[in-house]
Amino acid sequence: MANGRRKDEWEEPPTGFVAEANITERDADAFPEAGWPACWEAAADLLEWDRPYDDVLDDDGTTCWFPGGRLNAASNCVDRHVAADRGDETAIIWEGKLEETRTYTYRELYAEVNAFAAALRDLGVGEDDVVTIYLPMVPELPIAMLACARIGAPHSVVFAGFSADALATRMSGADSEYLVTCDGYYRRGTALDLKHMADNACLSVEQSIERVIVNRLHDDIPAGDHHAFDDLVADHAGTEIAPVERDVDDLLFLIYTSGTTGEPTLVRHTTGGYLAHVAWTSHAVFDLMPDDVLWCSADVGWITGHSYTVYGPLSIGATTVLYEGTPDHPEKDRLWEVIDRNDVNVFYTAPTSIRAFMKWGSEYPDRHDLSSLRLLGSVGEPIDETTWQWYREHVGGGECPVVDTWWQTETGGVVLSTLPGVDSMQPGAVGRSLPGVEAAVVDGLGKPVDSGLPGELVLTRPWPGMAKSLCEQTDWGGRRTRTADGDWQYETGDKAVRDGDGYLHLRGRADDVFNVSGHRLSSTEIESAIVGVEGVAEAAVVGRSDTVKGMAVHAFVSPESNVAGDDALRDQIERAVESAIGAIAVPHTVTFAPSLPKTRSGKVVRRYLEAIANGEDLGDTSALRNPEIVGELESLLEQ
Ligand code: WT7
Repeated sequence: MANGRRKDEWEEPPTGFVAEANITERDADAFPEAGWPACWEAAADLLEWDRPYDDVLDDDGTTCWFPGGRLNAASNCVDRHVAADRGDETAIIWEGKLEETRTYTYRELYAEVNAFAAALRDLGVGEDDVVTIYLPMVPELPIAMLACARIGAPHSVVFAGFSADALATRMSGADSEYLVTCDGYYRRGTALDLKHMADNACLSVEQSIERVIVNRLHDDIPAGDHHAFDDLVADHAGTEIAPVERDVDDLLFLIYTSGTTGEPTLVRHTTGGYLAHVAWTSHAVFDLMPDDVLWCSADVGWITGHSYTVYGPLSIGATTVLYEGTPDHPEKDRLWEVIDRNDVNVFYTAPTSIRAFMKWGSEYPDRHDLSSLRLLGSVGEPIDETTWQWYREHVGGGECPVVDTWWQTETGGVVLSTLPGVDSMQPGAVGRSLPGVEAAVVDGLGKPVDSGLPGELVLTRPWPGMAKSLCEQTDWGGRRTRTADGDWQYETGDKAVRDGDGYLHLRGRADDVFNVSGHRLSSTEIESAIVGVEGVAEAAVVGRSDTVKGMAVHAFVSPESNVAGDDALRDQIERAVESAIGAIAVPHTVTFAPSLPKTRSGKVVRRYLEAIANGEDLGDTSALRNPEIVGELESLLEQ
């Protein structure tokens, strides 16, 4: 399908939607007229500035968006809606496990954020001090984020599914001396002791850590070396903290993601550009209006949740749903029941989840009234046509536009998508780039390839949500480059094809990063955990296509010569990965191999292992130092 589907098979946005959309054809025409970067002014206009910016973009080498501007993200997400007489509107609907629900109006959110901000100050948190937040999907998570933003303390949210080791690495790397966590939480019916993990992490970092604990499992946590979140908020109830004016370029948060090295990559996002980008894309791509209820199903521990559960919808003044449970508990219709009960208007999830829903069957969504939905979004990996059509038909009732949104932790917000009230939808393609974003598909030398041919996706102009690391001249993992002609170019690490109509079709990663059930993992990070196991000589990890997860982790491990590749070793490997990263990274398959395919210079060729794991043809393997291993591995997998 390199050239895309025939145009008569494209889907047009529903006319009712088009008539009411935030971005109409006329608006869309105005962006190119305004030109780049001026068209991004529309994004900045969605925010309230304490000091107006001097210019849209300062490209003196720092690539600072909206230079001179000053603002506070928390006041943009909370205070201004209260000031605009919308204090009684719902800001957050929390759907907890065990049938608990809680809602916060903007006024209530204001009170909580202020009280916790005051508490953080009392604990000694100053402007620019990094606060680590290690919490599951509880309301205290966005509250803590906004409290940090209010006092100008960048937060660093660590996904609660990560291990103690992973938490420790992230606290050390960010030089963070404050941690907000909880006593524990339920995962698939079992109580997990998060506090114990956090305690272990605190023991293994050099700095001493001030801890705040949210009570999630127990009413009381034995007194100790920490403060209880509820007590802090109660003690500071009614205190108001003036939002700290931040420079556009000051940090709003840090977030770690998997890069191409063995270590997690630190990504830093700034206050002005990031917030403008997520507010704008919430408005333009998700068509979010202040009266809407949006549910982005990703965990807030990932960038998706930062941008479209917290900062995007709250900056617009809409209602955001925070969901703690799993999709199949108590029953497989749980999500549809939540949408029905809360009249959710915009639903945003990942293809891996949609494929699971599809497998469970349409009788589950059919049981509920989903007519409140007006737009559906997809993110995280390519969505195939069948899944797209099922989503549109059985969740959207055939009446909702579906936006396939491409972006990354580094881009901060959506950069490739259709505009739902303007563009035709081509199932299986993300569409063109958004106004003000320029994308190209290039070859190994950075030269654009013809449409229909595969290449690497690059972005050729800066955009406001770009991570600060991308703005700086420093060579950042080799991904932000200037071409031979001196042009700006950001290498995304993804493979893509542009069809004859200019629509982009994503083809997965071109590097050693892959996505498993919406979690971005790095081969090298997992490998370094595996080779740390005694008795393991070498390991290579690849992604294997999986009909539901999208990708599954397949590890090829070669034990030392006197060590058996048996269940005991497999068990140790699994435990090592779980403790270094977390359960999400544990290999689904471990194949013990006498050796791994290598080039003559001794480099393991992951490409061949990937083909073997996926049952694909390898082509010519004669350049290998040990071509015979290929046949051996193939027959090992056939067994
Ligand atoms: C990688 C970024 C922020 C989005 C969630 C994950 C893949 C993302 C799509 C899409 C095809 C996609 C890419 C990208 N990806 N969206 N619509 N179609 N692939 O953020 O963890 O930083 O992962 O997710 O491979 O590089 P992330």
